[in-house]
Amino acid sequence: MKKIKKYLLLPLIIFGLGCSSDKEEFNDDDAGDEIPEAKVEASFDYTISEEDPYAILLDNTTESEREYTAVWDFGKGGEKVADKAGLEEVRYTETGEYTITLEVSNAAGTSTATKTLKVDQWYGVCPTSGCEDLSDKGLKEGTDTFSVGVITQSYRINEGGSHTQVLKKEFNSLTAEYEMKMNIMYPSQDSYDFSAGDAIVDFAVANDMYVHGHALIWHEASPDWVENFTGSDAEFEKMVEDYITTTMTRYRGKVRSWDVVNEAVDESAGNPLRNSVFRQRMGDDYVKKCFQFARNADPEAILFYNDFNIAASSGKRAAIFDLVDDLGDLIDGLGAQMHISIDNPSAEDIQAVVDGAVSRGLKLHFSELDIRTNLENDKNLSSLSAEKAARQRAKFKEVVNIYNAVPLDNKFGITVWGLRDNESWLVDFYGVPEWPLLFDMNYNKKQAYDGFLEGLQ
Ligand code: XIL
Repeated sequence: MKKIKKYLLLPLIIFGLGCSSDKEEFNDDDAGDEIPEAKVEASFDYTISEEDPYAILLDNTTESEREYTAVWDFGKGGEKVADKAGLEEVRYTETGEYTITLEVSNAAGTSTATKTLKVDQWYGVCPTSGCEDLSDKGLKEGTDTFSVGVITQSYRINEGGSHTQVLKKEFNSLTAEYEMKMNIMYPSQDSYDFSAGDAIVDFAVANDMYVHGHALIWHEASPDWVENFTGSDAEFEKMVEDYITTTMTRYRGKVRSWDVVNEAVDESAGNPLRNSVFRQRMGDDYVKKCFQFARNADPEAILFYNDFNIAASSGKRAAIFDLVDDLGDLIDGLGAQMHISIDNPSAEDIQAVVDGAVSRGLKLHFSELDIRTNLENDKNLSSLSAEKAARQRAKFKEVVNIYNAVPLDNKFGITVWGLRDNESWLVDFYGVPEWPLLFDMNYNKKQAYDGFLEGLQ
């Protein structure tokens, strides 16, 4: 845009008039020869928006009486933008360093002014004096409307060290990766083993973390003696009731919430109820029975049904919501496992899970978040490429962003399924290298971590 200068023109006119002794007609050409047009010095300031810590207000403070054009480069890799009258508001949603350039041109040439700003994951745009040391902050400080959880294993807790330090610093909810499943807690008839679960729960309680119990009934984790139960159906059902009651009573007041039944809906056509031993022994309403046992055992506990592919498959989603509807008041929340990839499912499909839960007044747990990158199943990959890392960051941001917009009453938490990439179950599950989590093997925060935080903005 063209601007008319106030200060420079005045001395030039006086100078020009003073030199023209013979009152010749003043024309542009002569003026051009005698008074070469001066280059304009670009200058600008910025202030951090008071309303939005991630936005700045740019102020073009260039002073000139001559016409010039001015364009901004906001340092975000986009097109240059022509300067407009007034302050220019620019938002930086991703952490990093940005160099802002104001380019000012007139007939005499172009000058530029630059400033570099830093956008921090906690503070947004850093003050010019720099962001203070943020080393004591963790992911959990990024939100106070839902819990940010992770899984662990008892031996890692018992070992201590960096793993436990990171757990304490970053997360405020803990889930046992596998040690609070039936095959571990109830390995043989009439003989419970809560030692691993106790270690995890005690650590969480000692460190002010919630515990999400996972998972009381899961066909993949039923012990052999249950699969081959020798008693009658009635005895089987009594055994399940005793198990749920014993377990939930033990952790009453310590475990805030439970996945009562996990993955009951089959993947096959029509998404029927999976034909697990529980269904065979207790009937088609076994899920309801288990929820009733759980409600009786700990009326304070928040009870979830948990499953996978709820976003990716609309058919399965419908079947799951039917199951959930059938549970009525016995269920409090839906756990949507989020074992997803950098490509799928789409934001719309994830939003459909949110909408279904919200319309039913359910709490929603994004319960098992990890984001695959090795979609080609390339066995020879040795590292996560920059391109994949950036896409993973964007997907974490998208997922968290969607979750963060869930109405407060329906919010519960997000649980990341693993701390470091090398601890992820996916490495074994797919048998190929994978980097699906927020931390690398050295506990360094990945871009994915920044994406998680960006989703909270
Ligand atoms: C996985 C654990 O990560 C593994 O360590 C364990 O061997 C098998 O289970 N859906 C679930 C989780 O509900 O319990 C699974 O966890 C991953 C898929």
